[in-house]
Amino acid sequence: TRTPLMAGNWKMNLNHLEAIAHVQKLAFALADKDYDAVEVAVLPPFTDLRSVQTLVDGDKLKIVYGAQDISAEDSGAYTGEISGPMLAKLKCTYVAVGHSERRQYHGESDELCNAKVKAAFRNGITPILCVGEGLDVRKAGEQVPYTLAQLDGGLKDVPAEQAESIVIAYEPVWAIGTGEVATPEDAQEVCGAIRGRLAELYSQELADKVRIQYGGSVKSGNVAAIMAQPDVDGALVGGAALDTEEFVKIVRFRD
Ligand code: 13P
Repeated sequence: TRTPLMAGNWKMNLNHLEAIAHVQKLAFALADKDYDAVEVAVLPPFTDLRSVQTLVDGDKLKIVYGAQDISAEDSGAYTGEISGPMLAKLKCTYVAVGHSERRQYHGESDELCNAKVKAAFRNGITPILCVGEGLDVRKAGEQVPYTLAQLDGGLKDVPAEQAESIVIAYEPVWAIGTGEVATPEDAQEVCGAIRGRLAELYSQELADKVRIQYGGSVKSGNVAAIMAQPDVDGALVGGAALDTEEFVKIVRFRD
């Protein structure tokens, strides 16, 4: 009963003109079928969001969109930051929080991610909280406790009324942009553990509602096997989301 969420994280790719062309192509390719059964989202760079909003609103496209990051603060002297109220004004449905590239290149801690999760909820935006271990941790077999610690940190003091709508993205860092995809069993192991922890932190009922995505070298050729896992409810797609045809195939993983 969880609607799969197939989301394209464009990272720092596609300017606003390219974004319009891409979203139009995507909408056209998905228009011949009823896609209510799968939710399709794009996460473009900030500078593209207004263009994407205009297109989606104007043409009533069945695509939702969101941002790749959010400030923990709602306004003030934070040069270069983008606030929750700004993203809400652009009608963003989602915002990625704590992507591994933010954690790695911008030093984002679990504490900051927690503040960003709260900022998203405070502004009516659904956070996609990204968690996942690096290669060293995986080699040491510590992927489950490591990832669950990130989950605990990101959800600290987040009430059940909010947590029930969060999306968790399990993205093992060693599988991002490397072509090294986790096996469906690897994805299930950690996604299952995440759901188990949500049940411990809140309730089984809440855990059963939350969508857990897998991310890391998802392609049209491997998406179906990953989506077949019981605790994988979607994909967060990087590189393959930049290629419209490939992303459409990923969205249509059931075909
Ligand atoms: P790739 O699909 O390029 O491996 O990226 C995954 C990712 O980081 C999505 O957020």
